Amino acid sequence: MSMDTRIAELRKRREAIQLGGGSDKLEKHRAQGKLTARERVAALTDAGSFQETGLFAEHRATLFGMAGKEAPADGVICGAATVHGRLIHLASQDFTVLGGSAGELHSTKVAEIMEQSLKTGSPFVFINDSGGARVQEGIDSLSGYGKVFHTNVMLSGAVPQISLICGPCAGGAAYSPALTDFIIQTRQAQMFITGPQVIKQVTGEAVTADQLGGADAHMTNSGVVHFIAGNDEEAILLCQKLLSFLPSNNLEDPPVFPSDGNVDANPVLNGIVPDDPKQPYDVRDVILNVVDNGDFLEAQSGYAPNIVIGFGRILGRSVGIIANQPAYLAGVLDINASTKASRFIRFCNAFNIALLTFVDVPGFLPGVQQEHNGIIRHGAKMLFAYSAATVPKITVVLRKSYGGAYLAMCGKDLGADRTFAWPTAEIAVMGAEGAVEIVFRKEIQEAEDKAARRKELIEKYREVFANPYVSAGRRLVDDIIEPPETRRMIAQSLEYLNTKRELRPAKKHGLIPL
Ligand code: HXC
Repeated sequence: MSMDTRIAELRKRREAIQLGGGSDKLEKHRAQGKLTARERVAALTDAGSFQETGLFAEHRATLFGMAGKEAPADGVICGAATVHGRLIHLASQDFTVLGGSAGELHSTKVAEIMEQSLKTGSPFVFINDSGGARVQEGIDSLSGYGKVFHTNVMLSGAVPQISLICGPCAGGAAYSPALTDFIIQTRQAQMFITGPQVIKQVTGEAVTADQLGGADAHMTNSGVVHFIAGNDEEAILLCQKLLSFLPSNNLEDPPVFPSDGNVDANPVLNGIVPDDPKQPYDVRDVILNVVDNGDFLEAQSGYAPNIVIGFGRILGRSVGIIANQPAYLAGVLDINASTKASRFIRFCNAFNIALLTFVDVPGFLPGVQQEHNGIIRHGAKMLFAYSAATVPKITVVLRKSYGGAYLAMCGKDLGADRTFAWPTAEIAVMGAEGAVEIVFRKEIQEAEDKAARRKELIEKYREVFANPYVSAGRRLVDDIIEPPETRRMIAQSLEYLNTKRELRPAKKHGLIPL
């Protein structure tokens, strides 16, 4: 056989496999407003950069009609590519091939490409669109998923892992995304461990797939997803943007973007925090006026909105921002806010991203429900995560900073490298109203005009503590700054802290209260 013939055959085979489940299935897939597995890869990666591995892979299953059944590339496209010039590894499940189901070989391909991520120190992106473990392959499918989960854990903290959920992600398959750092879910996708039919059988509850595991359910109720995308294209843009803030691995610093070096005073910052300490405001207005070009990528925006987390840049350097949100529940720290922020802090620390914390917190949320659900255990995560973090830590107290929550928002004693306070800052063991009830209860009870005495004592307490000067006097605040100077102070701190090294005792790992 001549070389020409052989090449013609190779091309024919390649083209056939690249068609996945065939034109009918591809058409049905596109009709749902989705990109195909290959189109997603093309949209995510730089043109001409994708190097596929395992295109010709064939399953070896024989039971339940699998003997001789074609499953091009075994339903998953794997390989290396660049995104904006930076190396990544990826897997993209092809729903048109046996529903993107994960058999033994499918999962082996995924696990192998993940190992390449680890070996090369490059992010791993997993585009999910699958009916889950391939039922015909039984325990071999489970074993395959086990390998993927195990490899997810090997990669964790070494290279960033991002999951895109672009179609069904059912059963235990949802645990691979759960083990990754960020999940982006499209509005066409659903994720659940057991679907509506099983739930109906077991608990009698009636629920649609979307109510159960749609993007909104996972953003608002479960906190499983970090970003919602309207469609595949949007999910891919989000993924590219997210990658731009991150280093390729834990041994690198995040990429530094070009910057015009502008740190001019921004007078807008003088008008955001209201004079009345009880008035809410949107802390994102502070963030947007501090970061480069007002560009802030907020994660989990719909979950525990009383705390805001996300990425921005200051003079081109990535920062992870954590901020109490006075516009929601007065910015109180509750269980969900604590777990949301703690996980983010640990991600930033693992990947050398400085932490920038904006504080306006009245305390931990009181209540039986919070206590019984473990605010002690979950709130402690904040103390643990901040204390354990060795990246540069910069804290800016905007207004209230009370009690345990003052510490939990990266107070100086938890290792903040710089703590700045605005003149509006009130740093105290607790709010004046509560403090007065404890310290002066007897005095108030004995007063002729109880209300007047209470008011007087509250004012007295506030006069002493409701300012940043006592804390600055104790050196818990490094400097009291005028709000318009905030960006300049942060930029300078990041510059001076860039070489920060802080060692921790050698141990297998710390024991964050999970
Ligand atoms: C094998 C599967 C499959 C699976 C779908 N298919 N899921 N094949 N194993 N898990 C096949 C279908 O038979 C069909 O094949 C094709 O994919 C397309 O599926 P449809 O049902 O026609 O598509 P659609 O109506 O869009 O519904 C998609 C779906 C549904 C919601 C994902 O297929 C579904 O509910 N699948 C099962 C989901 C599930 O229970 N998974 C859990 C698996 S066990 P044909 O040939 O007709 O085109 C599991 C255990 C944990 O995951 C594993 C990790 C620990």
